[in-house]
Amino acid sequence: MPRLKVLFVVSECVPLVKTGGLGDVAGVLPQALAARGHDVRVIMPRYRSATAYPAERRPEPLVAPLGGGERWCGLWEGRLEGDVPIYLLEHDVLYDRDGLYGDTFGEFGDNLLRYALLSRASLELPAAIGWEPDVFHVHDWQSALVPVYQRVLGRPATSVLTIHNLGYQGRFGREAADALGIDPGAYGWLGLECFGDVNLLQAGITCATALSTVSPRYAQEIQTPLGGAGLDGALAARGRDLVGVLNGIDEEIWDPRSDLHIAERFGVDDLDRGKAACKAALQLELGLPVRPEVPLVGLVSRFAWQKGIDIFARAVEMLHGEDIQFAVLGSGESWAEELFGRWDDELPHFAARCRFDEGLAHRIEAGADLFAMPSRYEPCGLNQMYSQRYGTLPVVRAVGGLADTVEDGVTGYVFEALEPAALVEALLRGAWVMRHAPHEHREMQRRSMQEHRGWDRAAAQYDALYRLASRRR
Ligand code: ADP
Ligand code: GLC
Repeated sequence: MPRLKVLFVVSECVPLVKTGGLGDVAGVLPQALAARGHDVRVIMPRYRSATAYPAERRPEPLVAPLGGGERWCGLWEGRLEGDVPIYLLEHDVLYDRDGLYGDTFGEFGDNLLRYALLSRASLELPAAIGWEPDVFHVHDWQSALVPVYQRVLGRPATSVLTIHNLGYQGRFGREAADALGIDPGAYGWLGLECFGDVNLLQAGITCATALSTVSPRYAQEIQTPLGGAGLDGALAARGRDLVGVLNGIDEEIWDPRSDLHIAERFGVDDLDRGKAACKAALQLELGLPVRPEVPLVGLVSRFAWQKGIDIFARAVEMLHGEDIQFAVLGSGESWAEELFGRWDDELPHFAARCRFDEGLAHRIEAGADLFAMPSRYEPCGLNQMYSQRYGTLPVVRAVGGLADTVEDGVTGYVFEALEPAALVEALLRGAWVMRHAPHEHREMQRRSMQEHRGWDRAAAQYDALYRLASRRR
């Protein structure tokens, strides 16, 4: 099979910057595709937090025409793991600030311009570096304008849009849309028009050659009114071109046998001792009573509506009389940060750290017994798979990728209803098995740890999708 040239256009990428799972995926999928022999490269904004990453500025600037005139950018080049080139788009006014999409005051007001520039500039990259991609692989609303500009400019190239989260669509008031530099008369047929606003994700869905999302179940859900966040019609109209490709995980970064963040390394064969050491160390680190027998429930999450953090909070309240500990890491909605901070002070069995902390995320995965994910919706979810790898049984709601990766009573616990009582019931089930049927618990841990979660399967599916899309175009 001929080797393909693929350009990933993304808004975050591990190890440079990450706010969630998109960064994880963008950091490892290109490597997995490169390992299949493809020439894969990545372009991303040079945010302030990415400037420390080793890279060199290329001699020529990159010039992108947008509404209001040309934008001149610097272009830096570095390498990701696996020798994957990464290009960093430098524009101080738009990217040299704290935060990726916003700060403590909320979303940045100029996000439309910031990501229109990323998309438009990625189409100038081929001329600037003398390398013409066969496929532009774009992700979420932040790069959904790539296929839109391709259509406007009459530059046919294959584009694949992966939807990681339909809850964020890049919807902006029409007055801001002048920055796009697209004739408003074309908004309708480009799919930009959305009840008087512009909607970048909807336009990407309309214009991309092929669409994918990050689990088979979510691919079904988003074509229904309940899961479609207003775009189910647009998605169903392109149902033939939409596939669900389940994310993998980086099995090197998330490996209890070699993880340097955790107190003691362990594998499936020496699970008990290593896990007990990680649990004790986590309890100590978080100021929880160091008690091996008490079930410890972990949660690592953005505190957002999507994640059912309110359901989790209610469940914690309902479980007050039970002998169960909680270890929470996350940030986001201020009510949650405030409440969990207070409980951390007041409740001896509850610990919370409200910040982004990569190392602690690993230590919770390794040290907890159960891991809660009561999501309202979950396109894929990575934490349940990280948990499984560390012998920590995920307790998840039966939605999206959670339903596709956790089997009830086999590799975790699954509940249906979006209600605190349902989460409580599932947590109590897990705690009971751990206490009273330890062999069963251990068997579930073993099975979870042995699930194959690498990226090779997904990379093969994307490979096929790129070829299919190229033929369709
Ligand atoms: P989403 O992308 O919707 O936030 P995922 O489960 O796909 O959900 O990915 C979340 C990623 O972000 C995981 O790698 C998780 O460990 C990480 N993460 C979330 N919150 C934090 C935090 N406060 N500190 C460290 N890592 C976090
Ligand atoms: C999104 C989703 C999450 C998914 C991640 C990576 O942020 O919310 O479910 O795992 O993208 O695809």
